[in-house]
Formats: sequence, structure tokens, C-alpha cells
Amino acid sequence: MVNTYTVWKNEDHSKAFLEQVRGAIPFSVEQVEIMLRIIGTAVPQVRRFLDLGCGDGILGRSILSSHPAARGIFVDFSETMISAAKRKCDGRCEFITTDLAHAEWTEAVRDRGPFDVIVSGFAIHHLPDTRKRELYQEVFDLLGPEGVFLNLEHVSSASKWLEALFEEQFVDSLFAYHRRRGSKSSREQIAQEFYSRPDKKANILAPVDVQCAWLREIGFQDVDCYFKVFELALFGGRKPR
Ligand SMILES: C[S@@+](CC[C@H](N)C(=O)[O-])C[C@H]1O[C@@H](n2cnc3c(N)ncnc32)[C@H](O)[C@@H]1O
Repeated sequence: MVNTYTVWKNEDHSKAFLEQVRGAIPFSVEQVEIMLRIIGTAVPQVRRFLDLGCGDGILGRSILSSHPAARGIFVDFSETMISAAKRKCDGRCEFITTDLAHAEWTEAVRDRGPFDVIVSGFAIHHLPDTRKRELYQEVFDLLGPEGVFLNLEHVSSASKWLEALFEEQFVDSLFAYHRRRGSKSSREQIAQEFYSRPDKKANILAPVDVQCAWLREIGFQDVDCYFKVFELALFGGRKPR
């Protein structure tokens, strides 16, 4: 059975994501720019942050590049991902291998908080909706006053037609990325691999407006979807003072 554990704890899949997919995500540069703009305005000097489902730490490392005095905790349940993050991070980073599916993950980080910023990239959509909402509450509790939470996430489309539009854009983006890197694969081959990718079955996508409503109910302010193209959304909010 394909689930988030069989997918992300598989070394080959994790490496394939980092080497063959991450760089092809449409508007990935813009997503990080907007994330950093919001963080820089909400918290001009970040001291402590969390990166949940960090992969190779791409989001947390971008915070460190703009906030050199910050310290980050990188959380993931995949040893392959944690190893990749360790190779790319420096002494300002700490790594915790734990599963966000259970509230116990907070015990490993609580003493290092409260946090100014908590980010997550394309990870929380692997959790069931009830657990997503619980996790957002845990994030709220771990943030300090005026701390900011930003979730760069794969969200559901409003219709099958829009889902197809998203998927075709992603295939175009993958094809262009692999061509730039010298691949001879045809668009048809790239599309075939994309549509049969194992992590698709491990996705539990939720609408961004529903997730923003959860954040408001929990008590976040300035909640919004700050950037969205089809199924790729950057949303979040700030903890009140
Ligand atoms: C698509 S990758 C994204 C990695 C990185 N955040 C990025 O933006 O490139 C999803 C990551 O979430 C991690 N992940 C998925 N489910 C998780 C869970 N329940 N607990 C901890 N990490 C999880 C995976 O191991 C993987 O590193």
C-alpha cells in the first residue's frame, strides 16, 4: 500500500524528489521570495525558527540567508532527507527526526521555543485533515507573540478541470527543467512518470480556504493565501501579540 511512510522513507524516492522535482516546481523562486518578504516584515530579526517536513532544508536555509543570526530546527521523519539537510546546513541548524503525524513531535522542540517563525513546505498535505488542523494548533502554541506561520503547500483544486490544468503546467515545468539539464526525455515520457508518481497516492489535499478558516478559528490573525497558482499555495498567519 502506498502511503506517506512508504514514499518518503524510501531513499530513492526522496533523492529523486530532491534531484529531479524540487527545482522544477513552478514559481518556486517567487514562492520563497514572498515567504521571505512576509517573514522580514513580521519579524525583522528572526532568532529561532522551525522548518517542518524540511526535506533538504530549502526553506529554512533561505531564512538563514536573510537572517544570519537566526537558529533553525529542521524536522523530518525521513533519514534520507535529514541527511541531505545536514549536508547543506551549517552550525546554526539543529535536526530532529520525528513524525508530525503525532502530537509528541512537539516535545522534541518545545524547550527550544517559543519560535519567531514556523515554515513548512509541501509536507502537511500528507496528513489527514483532522491531523492537519491539530498540527496548526500545535504550531500556534509553539509560536511566540507576533510569530508567523507560513505553509507552502500542495492544496486541492476546486474542480477536475482545474486539477488537469495544474498537472499539465507541472509537466511543462518538469519538461523544461530536465531539458535545461541536458535530458533527452520526451514530454510524453516526463508526463507518464509524473502521472504515475508514487507520492500522488499519498496526497491528502485540502482546499486552501478551508485551511485558512482553520487558522482563523485557532486564533491566527492576518490569515490569507498570499500567493497561489493552481494547486500550489503559500498561506498562513500571525500569532497575536
Ligand atoms: C515534498 S517534500 C518537501 C521538502 C521540503 N520542505 C521542500 O519544500 O522541498 C515533503 C517532506 O515532508 C516530509 N514528511 C512527510 N510527512 C511527514 C511526517 N508525517 N512527519 C515528518 N516529515 C514528513 C518528507 O519526508 C519530505 O521530506
